[in-house]
Order: sequence, then structure tokens, then C-alpha cells
Amino acid sequence: MSNVFRPVLPPGVLSLHALPAEHHEKDWDRIFVPLEVKQRLLNQALLTLLHGKKLSTLAGLPHGLIVLAGPPGTGKTTLGRGLAQVAASALSTRGATTLIEINPHAFPSDMLGESQRNIARLMMDTIPEIAARRPHTVVLIDEVESFAVRRASASFETNPVDVHRATDAVLMGIDSISKALPSVLFVATTNFFEAVDEAFLSRADLVMHFTLPDQATVASILHHSLEELALLWPTVRPLLDQRRELERVAALCAGWDGRRVRKLILAALAQRMEVARDPGLLTLEDLAHAVRQSNDISVPAERA
Ligand SMILES: Nc1ncnc2c1ncn2[C@@H]1O[C@H](COP(=O)(O)OP(=O)(O)O)[C@@H](O)[C@H]1O
Ligand SMILES: [Mg+2]
Repeated sequence: MSNVFRPVLPPGVLSLHALPAEHHEKDWDRIFVPLEVKQRLLNQALLTLLHGKKLSTLAGLPHGLIVLAGPPGTGKTTLGRGLAQVAASALSTRGATTLIEINPHAFPSDMLGESQRNIARLMMDTIPEIAARRPHTVVLIDEVESFAVRRASASFETNPVDVHRATDAVLMGIDSISKALPSVLFVATTNFFEAVDEAFLSRADLVMHFTLPDQATVASILHHSLEELALLWPTVRPLLDQRRELERVAALCAGWDGRRVRKLILAALAQRMEVARDPGLLTLEDLAHAVRQSNDISVPAERA
């Protein structure tokens, strides 16, 4: 048993946060995407949080749902959290925001009927109760595909009837919350866009597609990671000026996702024992070496 104190959370709720909070401050700026992407996300979030109630009187009722879709490691979860924080900051003079993080894996669909009831309880009781406590609420459903599995493609081994029921429970929940609490914002992420139920996607007010970072973005991620490292070991700082060499390293990372690029720094620090002992001795050659090693190892694995 762990000694870590954890408040008792309702089933399916991974965490609850009152925003704005300092420990959520960095998420938004850490993810490099075109400025328009961030602007659009923030605008859409503010529209729901500020005017959801009025907008709900319009035909073609908004659902207060944003879907972030794309390959793993492209910053969706981080940006989803960051969005809650920047929206909360923008609205802070009107009161605080609750961020509810949902854990879709909490309801395995092989528990016949049970998962449907649990999801219904989460959507109909838990979320409305929590949402009543503060003026603004953002619900982050990470990896929503494990919840809202496309009904047409659900495998027969996983008991399709129950998968259908679980999906229906999620859809009914979103419909009912968008009517009763139209200013609650849902942000859902998915690594498998094709697996998400069409009826769920059709409810989204905005679907934002994420792609693997291009070379310039990889270079920005590397630069930012080195900047963070230089705060801990200042002798790393001169590497930041070697822009052209960094570009060259970035070119070697074609096809990598953002998470793998972030992890490269760690691998680079472990190339030589003197660097592992004193990370301030890191060179860009260590970085390039770590990339080549990673590419060499991963190629046969990918072919297999
Ligand atoms: N475009 C990006 N810019 C900067 N960092 C990124 C980017 N994409 C991913 N990362 C980094 O990769 C890691 C994983 O991000 P995460 O939000 O969990 O991705 P996802 O939810 O898409 O799998 C984080 O440390 C994040 O900082
Ligand atoms: Mg994620």
C-alpha cells in the first residue's frame, strides 16, 4: 500500500483541480503548434464557458465539445490541460474553474452492463455535482476512444452489446449535460481517430487534428529542452546558439513524435559516463549520437 495521500475521487474521475493553478502554468507554452491552433482552441473554449447558456437557445445546439485528434506523443493531453489553464486565467476575474480529468480506462467494457451504469452515473450525477461548485468547468476526457468506441467496428470478442451500451451512455451524457449545463466545456483527446464513434465526433463543435512535428518544430522542441537543461546546468547554455547544428540534429529526427524528441535529451546525457556524472558537459555531438543510435535500434523493430 502506498502512503501517498489521495483524496477519495468518484469512480472514473482521475483528478480534480481548481484553476488557474501555478503547476499548470507551463503546459500551454511547452507545446509548439502554429499560433492559429492555440488561438482557435482558446476562442472556442471561451465561447462555451462564457456564452454556452445563451448559445444553447440556438438551433443546432452547441455541445461544448472540442476533440483533439492525432498520433501519440503529439502534445494533445498537455495542450488539453494547458487550454483549461489559459481559459481559467482569462476568466479568473469572474471566478475559478474546475478541471475534471476523466479516466475512460476505469470502465472496462467486458463488465456486462456495469460499465454502462458507471458511465451514466459519472455523466448524469458526478459531473453535474462537481460543476455546480464553481462558475466554470472543463472536463478532460483523455483517450476517449476507449470510451466511445465506434459502434460499427467494435469486435465481437469484447461483447459488442456492452460496447454499444457504453458508447450510448457517453453520448446520452454529453447530450444531457449540453442541455442542462451548456457552459461546461468538454475536451476529448484521441490517438485513434478512426476508432471514435461518428455520433460522438458529429457532436464536436471543433475537431483539431495534430500531426507529427516537422523539422522546424523538432528544432524548437530541442532548443526548448536544452533551455530547460541550461537552467539546471548553466554550462549547457552555449549550445543554444548553435542553431545550424541543432537544425542538423533535427533533420535526423524525421518521423519522430514530440515525446520521443523530448526524451532524446535524456538519452544524450547517457551517452558518456562523464556527461552522466556532469550533464553540464553535454555537446551537440552527444545529441546527434543519441539520435543515430535511436534510429538504428528502431528500424529493425519497425520492420518486424
Ligand atoms: N508539438 C510539441 N511541442 C513540444 N513538445 C511536444 C510536442 N508534442 C509533444 N511534445 C512533448 O511530448 C510529450 C508527450 O505529450 P502528450 O501531451 O502526452 O502527447 P499526446 O497526448 O498527444 O500523446 C510531452 O512531454 C510534450 O511536451
Ligand atoms: Mg495523451
